[in-house]
Amino acid sequence: MDLSTTFLGFELKNPIVPGASPLIESADDARRLEDAGAAALVLHSLFEEEILREVGAQLAAEAHTESFAEALTYFPDLHSHLGPGQYLELVQQVKAAVGIPVIASLNGSTPGGWTRYAKKIEEAGADALELNIFFLATDPSETGQQVEDRTVDIVREVKSTVTIPVAVKLSPFYSSFVNLAARLKDAGADGLVLFNRFYQPDIDIEELAVTPNLRLSTSDDLRLRLRQLALLAGRVDLSLAATGGVHSAVDVIKAVMAGADVTQIVSALLIHGAEHIARTLQALEFWLEEHEYESLRQMRGSMSLARTPDPAALGRANYMQVLEDWRH
Ligand SMILES: Cc1cc2nc3c(=O)[nH]c(=O)nc-3n(C[C@H](O)[C@H](O)[C@H](O)COP(=O)(O)O)c2cc1C
Repeated sequence: MDLSTTFLGFELKNPIVPGASPLIESADDARRLEDAGAAALVLHSLFEEEILREVGAQLAAEAHTESFAEALTYFPDLHSHLGPGQYLELVQQVKAAVGIPVIASLNGSTPGGWTRYAKKIEEAGADALELNIFFLATDPSETGQQVEDRTVDIVREVKSTVTIPVAVKLSPFYSSFVNLAARLKDAGADGLVLFNRFYQPDIDIEELAVTPNLRLSTSDDLRLRLRQLALLAGRVDLSLAATGGVHSAVDVIKAVMAGADVTQIVSALLIHGAEHIARTLQALEFWLEEHEYESLRQMRGSMSLARTPDPAALGRANYMQVLEDWRH
């Protein structure tokens, strides 16, 4: 079965890509994932705050101090917060260890000097860059337009420093995501990675403390991605990756039918280990054969807004129908 796909211009042997996470802390980790069948790898992020910390207090003061403090507690113990220098070494080591494309990740929320690290990451050998723009709007005087403009500016800034492809990883919370996607394309983005999972803080009512916690996803998380992928596929000329809720071959199939070129997997690999990739690929191949597909590409986007026989099911009619059905 031909499981090949194209993402950010790379010809990949299949659509399974381990996503940004502590899955890769060394060249050995990367090799293990490649051996299990991964088609490309995404490294965990180098954070704007980590770069600013290194380049000094001066730059830190220019950044949004509030988001700076907040982000220092983001994913507190999840991966070994590598400084920029160590991160570049990790890129080099992983690149030397595997034959599949290596995608490094930069994570930030403001335009500024830190984005120059994109160039260093390129020089360290990364084949592509995933730019995670994670911003939580808290200022009542800041408009949605300003938030979007800044997102577009970051992408334009990064694209002006590198020649490797750049995929943008975003949250789902934009008023007109399709419009933002088109703007990001104009700013030079090569692909989108949908979506960031927000790790909602909880409240400890005894300690009166806001407690960050991280829950791994379930397949239910995929639904939010499916609709947006379906709205974008074939309508905006960008590579599309699904991230969030891909646990099984069925999830991969849904995401590809909606329009994803690749699916990123993290939670399922943290739970089941690297071998889960091989099992998922086997199940994917089996399903495609059973359903008489000749290739994965044949299936891609078949349930997107542009191609589904029932476009209304992706829009408001679906919402009304769901409520109606519940009453009956
Ligand atoms: C422990 C952990 C660490 C993560 N670190 C990063 C990171 O450094 N950069 C990033 O963009 N996403 C990071 N993520 C988010 C994942 O890349 C992914 O988007 C998210 O987990 C949803 O995919 P999943 O449902 O397959 O887990 C992390 C997720 C987990 C669980």
